[in-house]
Amino acid sequence: TGLDALIKSKGKKYVGFSADGSGQFNDATHANIFRTEAGCLTPENSMKWDAIEPNQGSFNWGTADTLVNFAQSNGKLVRGHTLLWHSQLPQWVKNINNKATLTTVIQNHAAAVAGRYKGKIYAWDVANEVVADGGGMRSSVFSQVFGDWTFLDVAFKAAKAADPNAKLCLNDYNINFTGAKLNTFIQVVKDLKSRGVPIDCVGTQTHTGVGDSSIANYKNTLTMLAGTGCEVQITELDIAFPSTSSSSALLNQQSNDYRTIVAACMGTSACTGITVWGVSDKNSWITGRHPLLWDENFQKKPAYTGFVNGINS
Ligand code: G3I
Repeated sequence: TGLDALIKSKGKKYVGFSADGSGQFNDATHANIFRTEAGCLTPENSMKWDAIEPNQGSFNWGTADTLVNFAQSNGKLVRGHTLLWHSQLPQWVKNINNKATLTTVIQNHAAAVAGRYKGKIYAWDVANEVVADGGGMRSSVFSQVFGDWTFLDVAFKAAKAADPNAKLCLNDYNINFTGAKLNTFIQVVKDLKSRGVPIDCVGTQTHTGVGDSSIANYKNTLTMLAGTGCEVQITELDIAFPSTSSSSALLNQQSNDYRTIVAACMGTSACTGITVWGVSDKNSWITGRHPLLWDENFQKKPAYTGFVNGINS
């Protein structure tokens, strides 16, 4: 029973959720949902650079270890998130202004973090959100110091060396609709491949809104991403209400939207798994806008049924 068992019965690899903190794993309600509904867990915050290496060479492993240990003892996959990101990046990294130093720092970070969890990570978001919202390269210490995309080469090669069997992904948001950002993203992936950089998967975060006009075209964006030759994963799915107010019409539309997105993955052979960004509306990063499958009281919403219908479509 549960979403993960159902999607596996249809040939996909997993349904996953973001999670974090001993509070969740010690909480019977959360832990039970993870055990029965999830095949994969993504640490929502604990593997980010500021959380895991706030000072150079000084690591906080505790929270991330808790998640990986829970996953190991319950037979769940883990998506590592994330080795290189412009946000949640400690100041000591932002202060680096020469390429040789930044190269070594990226290599050491990837070696330490991906190395610690070697063999226990299904897929790493090696780099997150490197494309600017209007297309082109996002401005960050990485883009500024390197001057081109080759900081990605450094990160992916270092991740490969640290955990050769993990699938290595490039992850981004706002690539769930067509436009300059999706076009740049696809080109970056193709260029990485043509340079021989080890990349296996692309992550489309898919933070979207109830009734968003892009949802009807979602399968098309998955097909475009699959055209890179990479495995495609939906990595951070949530579908928020426009405001805090709720209605049965919105709940039903949200259910339909989950069905459409999940069905698009089911109909795309390169799409291997779907991660929802949290379990209960109570704990979502989108405060008050009811984006998830369980409500504030951990009751299944119509969205849950929409997800099931999408798998069965
Ligand atoms: O842990 C500290 C706590 O000690 C402190 O008292 C408190 C005060 O602000 O902050 C806590 O940290 C917060 C952290 O979540 C853990 O709750 C940060 O402020 C807060 O910024 C952080 O937000 C996370 C956000 O990424 C930024 O890292 C969200 O939970 C998380 O859902 C969100 O996830 C991102 C993905 O990683 C990438 N894609 C977009 C997605 C949504 O923004």
